[in-house]
Amino acid sequence: MDELHITGGTRLDGAVPIAGAKNAALPQIAAALLSPHPLELTNLPKVSDVDNMLRIISLYGAEVQRNAGGTVINAQNVTPGEVDYETVRKMRASILVLAPLLARFGSARVSLPGGCAIGARPVDMHLKVLSALGATIAVEGGYIVANASDGLKGARVVLPGPSVGASETALMAACCATGETEILNAAREPEVVDLVACLVSMGAEIEGAGTHRLLVKGSTTWRAASHHAIADRVEAGTYAAAAMITGGRIELVNARMEHLSSVLQVLESMGATVWPGDRGVVVEGHGRIKPADFTTEPYPGFPTDLQAQFMAMASIAEGASVIRETIFENRFMHVPELSRLGTNIALNGSVATVRGQPSLKGAPVMATDLRASVCLVLAALAAQGETIIKRVYHLDRGYEQLDRKLAQCGANIRRVSL
Ligand code: UD1
Repeated sequence: MDELHITGGTRLDGAVPIAGAKNAALPQIAAALLSPHPLELTNLPKVSDVDNMLRIISLYGAEVQRNAGGTVINAQNVTPGEVDYETVRKMRASILVLAPLLARFGSARVSLPGGCAIGARPVDMHLKVLSALGATIAVEGGYIVANASDGLKGARVVLPGPSVGASETALMAACCATGETEILNAAREPEVVDLVACLVSMGAEIEGAGTHRLLVKGSTTWRAASHHAIADRVEAGTYAAAAMITGGRIELVNARMEHLSSVLQVLESMGATVWPGDRGVVVEGHGRIKPADFTTEPYPGFPTDLQAQFMAMASIAEGASVIRETIFENRFMHVPELSRLGTNIALNGSVATVRGQPSLKGAPVMATDLRASVCLVLAALAAQGETIIKRVYHLDRGYEQLDRKLAQCGANIRRVSL
């Protein structure tokens, strides 16, 4: 099991290539199961969640060829068999294979997923969407058993909330349904928009991407396709925080300003200077960070996936910040670990009050989930002395070569394999 050893206090300066978005890549890999024709995906990030998702679809019979330029998935010989819990428990996104298998084959049996331990994270909305399209669903012994022997039928689907994953499930299922499907209260996240772009390149007819109302024509005639995933806005926001917390400057190569507007707004309120560069976005921090109040919300609001990273910044701000988490009820699990570095954070339900400290001190800490582990990295970059972070595999799920990218900007960071 690897550890990260970080000695803080170095100002970061450099350019970081932002990888393809993990959360765009995962549904696109699942979408490959819809079609008997090959789908080439380029810009997939080299992270273990992507490896795991490719493994899952290959267990269903998809052929996966990873070349230098991209990954070609051929799902011609896929069958809707069963993939065991051990394989899917690591990743909540494994639920995304349910809709394509059911839609294409009329039946599917998929284990209830695992993933980050951040609250209950039910899959009821995914199942409601599929029922609305005519499937019968049962949960038996930890498996979701879905049937639609006469095929799915287009319908008006109203999501109870703008869930990213359930919107993706609805889109994929509706492509194979007969007739038109209207998806209301859909999520507007760039990753959902990118899935629409991928499905359209595969032959689907979909309108309304980026709005709360998606219209899917149905009975798609699939064709071979190629799709390039968008840059990872969460990775970009994380390096922006790394620049800020060290009073440094990082060019986020490939990052798209329009996907980061609420994030950059909070960053600027904390004292950053942000400007568009030739290759992406440049973020520079200056002196002491200012406190900020912000609330996580569905896109285009501030993303929950950057809450922990911004909390690390707030923990050394000049004053108190108030952070409200409205997406996941249990997403402050990083707080006890952060406190080992000397932070002062009070929790009251879904609200964290972060009293900025003049400095932090390195300590041994443990990663508990993907974004939590990276907030410990950020705090360690600003802390005096050495921090040792254990259970780095959480970090490898979603960050491509984090230690190397930070080292290239001057960070004193080492990965130690035990
Ligand atoms: C996706 C992202 C994740 C991000 C989250 C919110 C991927 C692979 N993951 O997760 O990184 O933090 O969006 O932006 O894209 N909910 C239900 N029932 C459901 C589905 C969701 O109650 O069936 C709830 C969740 O518990 C949560 C809220 O809806 O409170 C939003 O979750 P959702 O948008 O579905 O998140 P994911 O798609 O799992």
